[in-house]
Amino acid sequence: MLNKLKNNKVPKHIAIIMDGNGRWAKKQGMARIFGHRNALTAVREAVIGASEIGTEAITLYAFSTENWSRPKIEVDALMNLLTKSLKKEVPDFQKNGVKVNAIGRLNDLPKRAQQTLKEVIDVTKNNTKIILTFSLSYGSREEITSCIKKIAEKVKNSTLSINDIDEEIVQQNLYTYNLPDVDLMIRTSGEQRLSNYLLWQMAYAELYFTDILWPDFRREDLYKAVETYQNRERRFGKTSEQLDGEHEQIT
Ligand code: IPE
Ligand code: IPE
Ligand code: MG
Repeated sequence: MLNKLKNNKVPKHIAIIMDGNGRWAKKQGMARIFGHRNALTAVREAVIGASEIGTEAITLYAFSTENWSRPKIEVDALMNLLTKSLKKEVPDFQKNGVKVNAIGRLNDLPKRAQQTLKEVIDVTKNNTKIILTFSLSYGSREEITSCIKKIAEKVKNSTLSINDIDEEIVQQNLYTYNLPDVDLMIRTSGEQRLSNYLLWQMAYAELYFTDILWPDFRREDLYKAVETYQNRERRFGKTSEQLDGEHEQIT
């Protein structure tokens, strides 16, 4: 499968809505948290797979602003799992050149999770193979609202003039200021919605939905998504003929 992929059309940035842990557990008569615990292998596989094909950035939806409304027992279990797994993965991050990053309302996370996250981000900061971003207490509307506040503050203290506000300025004030736009978005578990994820950054992303439940996701599934992506024509508003012309000029 890997050798079927074209290396001139690799998505620079892949975002994944990792969905279906609860259903995966329920299918086996287990509690939802069992599904979350078994999601770790899928995370590793996705990161290694993306890194193998030369993707620069992979961003994972791990916990949304809306997920705080889940039962406290599940929220607590998820936060503990996050802290424990992040620590455990450090040797592999180092071995595989993974630079860890996080986006979202990180101050809302329990102190221990915040501390671990800070440490892991710090020890992996010089890695250059791939940037792995965890979205934690993340919601796109919250991100855009906080971006507007940051820009308004700059206008208020006269470090920015209204006329200079453009798409570039907006991008620089989002949590993802250091990441390229999303090229490919994958959502598992058969749901076909964005659930408040990276709305600005996915403006021109290719969307890929699969019925696989997240704990069953493996690198072959990622390659399949990338193969589909490579067979799509990204026109960015232009016509197909225009793109053919551009292609001829390059080759
Ligand atoms: C995704 O799986 C993980 C998180 C949202 C934290 P779910 O927990 O949403 O699993 P389903 O959708 O209920 O099966
Ligand atoms: C989206 O999944 C959030 C994460 C994967 C972390 P949800 O399972 O929470 O989304 P909805 O509620 O079904 O849209
Ligand atoms: Mg879900």
